[in-house]
Amino acid sequence: MPVTVIIGAQWGDEGKGKIVDVLAPQYDVVARFQGGPNAGHTLVFDGKKLVLHTIPSGIFHDRPINLIGNGVVIDPTTLQKEVDTVRTHGVAVEEKLYIAKKAHLILPTHKVLDAASEAAKGKAKIGSTLRGIGPTYMDKTGRNGLRVGNILQPDFKAQYHTLKEKHLELLRLYDYDYDLEAMEEAWWAGIDFLRTLNIVDGEYFINDQLQQGKAILAEGAQGSMLDIDYGTYPYVTSSNTITAGVLTGLGLQPKHIREVIGITKAYCTRVGSGPFPTELDNDEGQRLRDVGGEYGATTGRPRRCGWIDLPALQYTIMLSGVTQLAITKIDVLNAFETIRAATAYAIDGVETDRWIFDIGKATVNPVYTSFPGWQQEVEKNTTPDNFPSAFREYLRFLEDRLQVRISMLSTGPDREQLIQL
Ligand code: GDP
Ligand code: IMO
Ligand code: MG
Repeated sequence: MPVTVIIGAQWGDEGKGKIVDVLAPQYDVVARFQGGPNAGHTLVFDGKKLVLHTIPSGIFHDRPINLIGNGVVIDPTTLQKEVDTVRTHGVAVEEKLYIAKKAHLILPTHKVLDAASEAAKGKAKIGSTLRGIGPTYMDKTGRNGLRVGNILQPDFKAQYHTLKEKHLELLRLYDYDYDLEAMEEAWWAGIDFLRTLNIVDGEYFINDQLQQGKAILAEGAQGSMLDIDYGTYPYVTSSNTITAGVLTGLGLQPKHIREVIGITKAYCTRVGSGPFPTELDNDEGQRLRDVGGEYGATTGRPRRCGWIDLPALQYTIMLSGVTQLAITKIDVLNAFETIRAATAYAIDGVETDRWIFDIGKATVNPVYTSFPGWQQEVEKNTTPDNFPSAFREYLRFLEDRLQVRISMLSTGPDREQLIQL
């Protein structure tokens, strides 16, 4: 069976968790391939709202098992809390969750280093979620990291102390106060807990599943514009968030990937620092934030809001080979009199629809196309034939510009609020 990929096509928080939750019953395995607890994926069903950070968003369904792949970075403390929460909803997590041995561990000192580094950057800070993501991936590429498989080795404590000492050495470079004791205690409890879960050779595990004809859904975290290589560097996360990350993050062959579903909001948001050409620093932006409830699922920070950015979407669709789009938060635009979409940028006076190198250093003015709003609810059971005509026009324009089929429209946070086209 082919693999289906879900990726965020903007700057994260597009509603990936919701779409994965909706599609999960059609799959045998849901797998996270990158990122870590910087992610916050919100699921709403049966009157409940749950936010997952490390556990894949298929965990609440009977059919799929869930894999945390080797490309993910894991904080045992967060994972333990999350598993406990999921268990309170009656899920037998021990039967449904698998963790790749090659996934890297976030140490308490990684979190301290993240915070110290951000504090030292002052105004130039990335706006990290402070979950230790950057320092953990730095140790991975620097070949110093500790992996889940290491916790099963008799000398794990010594391995931990060697890395911790390196971190303490680094922390001396910063003028930053911290207290490790409580964090370390919770972390070691998390390690003991992790040992009780299903720890597997992720790459064999997933390829065996494929050989048995199982259907796999790969769940991306963050968004393509936060990709370490192609995002708005340095205001990015530290992993490959685009489709390429699925291959390394799970140990899959490219030939297995058939469909790539890009998730985008009907408008655009970003948390943290960095370029955001269509940002609305005005009443209209505040209206989007209020109606859309745009506050971070992980940190609670207000999200920056603006109009949908088509050059950015064209860019991320190209990078990931997106074959279909799911548009979320359509309902947020229901009451707007006028809706805008950026189709190009005027960069230092020259019009282009491309992302130039170091765009943050240029003066960028979006070029907009405006549409009359549909000013009514696009109900869950509405079929395309009876969509408001202004809404139909808007969708047609997006498909035409982006040259990708729109396959899903999300009209509210609940699992049930989805129109499949
Ligand atoms: P993710 O990180 O991509 O999974 O997205 P988040 O969970 O961080 O943020 C998406 C937010 O929008 C959450 O609060 C969701 O419950 C909510 N949401 C998802 N889809 C819709 C939708 O179609 N309409 C509305 N109003 N909210 C939505
Ligand atoms: P989900 O999966 C939105 C942002 C942070 C910061 C930058 C780097 O929920 O869509 P990091 O902690 O990775 O070092 O932060 O990336 N960021 C996200 N923004 N959604 C996310 O995940 C994010 N994960 C990280 O705000 O700007
Ligand atoms: Mg999120």
